[in-house]
Amino acid sequence: MNQQVEAGVPAPLAGRLAVVTGGASGLGLATARMLRDAGAGVVILDADGARAAAVAADLGIHALPLDVSDDPAAEACFDRIEATHGPVSILVCCAGVATPGPVTRRGAPMDLAEFRRVLDINLMGSLNCIRCAVPQMIRRGRAGPDGAEAGVIVLTSSIAASDGQMGQAAYAASKGGVAGMVLPLARELGDHAIRIAAIAPGVFRTPMTEGLPEKSRDVVFAALPPFPKRAGTAEDFADAARFVIGNAMINGETIRLDGGLRMPARL
Ligand SMILES: NC(=O)c1ccc[n+]([C@@H]2O[C@H](COP(=O)([O-])OP(=O)(O)OC[C@H]3O[C@@H](n4cnc5c(N)ncnc54)[C@H](O)[C@@H]3O)[C@@H](O)[C@H]2O)c1
Repeated sequence: MNQQVEAGVPAPLAGRLAVVTGGASGLGLATARMLRDAGAGVVILDADGARAAAVAADLGIHALPLDVSDDPAAEACFDRIEATHGPVSILVCCAGVATPGPVTRRGAPMDLAEFRRVLDINLMGSLNCIRCAVPQMIRRGRAGPDGAEAGVIVLTSSIAASDGQMGQAAYAASKGGVAGMVLPLARELGDHAIRIAAIAPGVFRTPMTEGLPEKSRDVVFAALPPFPKRAGTAEDFADAARFVIGNAMINGETIRLDGGLRMPARL
């Protein structure tokens, strides 16, 4: 029976292999824990290899160091995962940076290297992992016992994709790029029984936001949604990821997860 596409039946995660990028911290870490608790095998990939290894040891899962913007390293990493654990069937891309920067300062043009780095990690890094995971999902789909869903991909956009603030041009462009590629990828990957969707968080309390300079942090956390009147938690995100992974009809969409928050133009 084709359980994974039957109405109302959540896709079982036991026996599936999940890769979570940025899994050493924040939203990725909570998602890795949720996937483990749901019975999936989990490998976290993170540029901070030492922290990823410590987190993996703590959770009883696996970790590999990877800078998601490094193409050959990603190919080698995904090859190693398949050789060791079998083909990936769930990919959650959480690796990201939120470096701010105006396009001009004191009359001088910005250094494009920082802008490119944000795009390279947040946008190209997501695509880099998608292109490495998809062939494995296709192989698994063909070999899978139920002939149903071969894989599901969850990307992390941001409400900055639509409500980008002053100084956030690079971040907003990277997250807008993530949201923009979801539908064409869903259309492309559907023939391989692979779904893809993105979650666009509002303000979430993680090491990324907690690590902001004090003044910016206070302002960011002062932006309260209509309800609940609090910042999101990493567990709120993991819960949304579980919903996306488990519901066969979620595809080609970017879902705002923000309590109704709309960001003002400037911090
Ligand atoms: N926290 C928020 O309010 C918020 C809101 C919207 C979107 N997001 C997005 O959610 C994702 C997770 O953010 P978070 O808040 O958990 O941040 P975080 O800083 O706690 O975690 C991000 C992780 O990504 C890793 N990482 C950074 N660059 C990498 C690279 N080149 N290769 C591999 N790993 C890399 C970091 O080492 C870290 O472990 C990011 O894409 C972020 O832009 C966060």
